[in-house]
Amino acid sequence: MKQSEYLKILNLVKISLKEYSDWGENEIYKYLVADTKASKSILQATKQKTFSTEILYSKEELGKLREEINSCKKCPLGESRLNAVFGVGSPSADLIFVGEGPGYDEDHKGEPFIGKAGHLLTKIIEAMGQTRETVYIANIVKCHPMIDPSNSEKRANDRPPTPEEMSVCRNYLDMQLEIIKPKIIVTLGASSTKGLLNNKEPISQIRGLVKEYKGIKLMPTYHPAALLRNPNLKKFVWEDMKKVMHFLDTREI
Ligand code: SF4
Ligand code: URA
Repeated sequence: MKQSEYLKILNLVKISLKEYSDWGENEIYKYLVADTKASKSILQATKQKTFSTEILYSKEELGKLREEINSCKKCPLGESRLNAVFGVGSPSADLIFVGEGPGYDEDHKGEPFIGKAGHLLTKIIEAMGQTRETVYIANIVKCHPMIDPSNSEKRANDRPPTPEEMSVCRNYLDMQLEIIKPKIIVTLGASSTKGLLNNKEPISQIRGLVKEYKGIKLMPTYHPAALLRNPNLKKFVWEDMKKVMHFLDTREI
């Protein structure tokens, strides 16, 4: 190979490493190189599914549910929200991420995980060889839980949803799961994990363990906001995501 070709390849490698540098995990780079085949097969499978009538049907059903949620007032969060945040992604995703609830940015735009934590979640998804379009992203409650519900313009006004709010809203997530039929759920953080599993142990103990919700495999892991506060937790999330990738590829976990 000519030296100029070597340099070209080296440059490409540098660019892709830079893309994932926010993660700061060498292991990810190794994994990406070793397992581009696995990532490719995930993308291929997603592409093949794109045109089936089943997907058109799921799209329509999700659309109807989205409209219902937009006018929902079944719990007090419906009174203070600006926008209900339904979910984004593929109507036939094999992998669904479930967060805690919309924050300021999500409440203003009506889309989940678009703030700082959302940016990191997007990086995690991309490091897994997927995109926000090939997976599905939702929350355990669809409206912004605020410390001061009288002021939706206030920053740092987020709080976790209460068990009551989660149990009222969970019905909507259940319907999303019925329509999308994912093969695996990743719960992000203690709230959504508790909301689905009703577990007693802290997230530090339950993360990485394979659980089930309504017959669907479930992997609890840390919330990306926790990774922003404590980057040492990133390696654990990556361990958990490797298990998820292996499951998606082999259906074994
Ligand atoms: Fe309805 Fe859920 Fe919003 Fe409560 S959080 S108002 S149950 S959509
Ligand atoms: N945090 C969450 O749990 N969900 C979002 O949609 C945004 C931030």
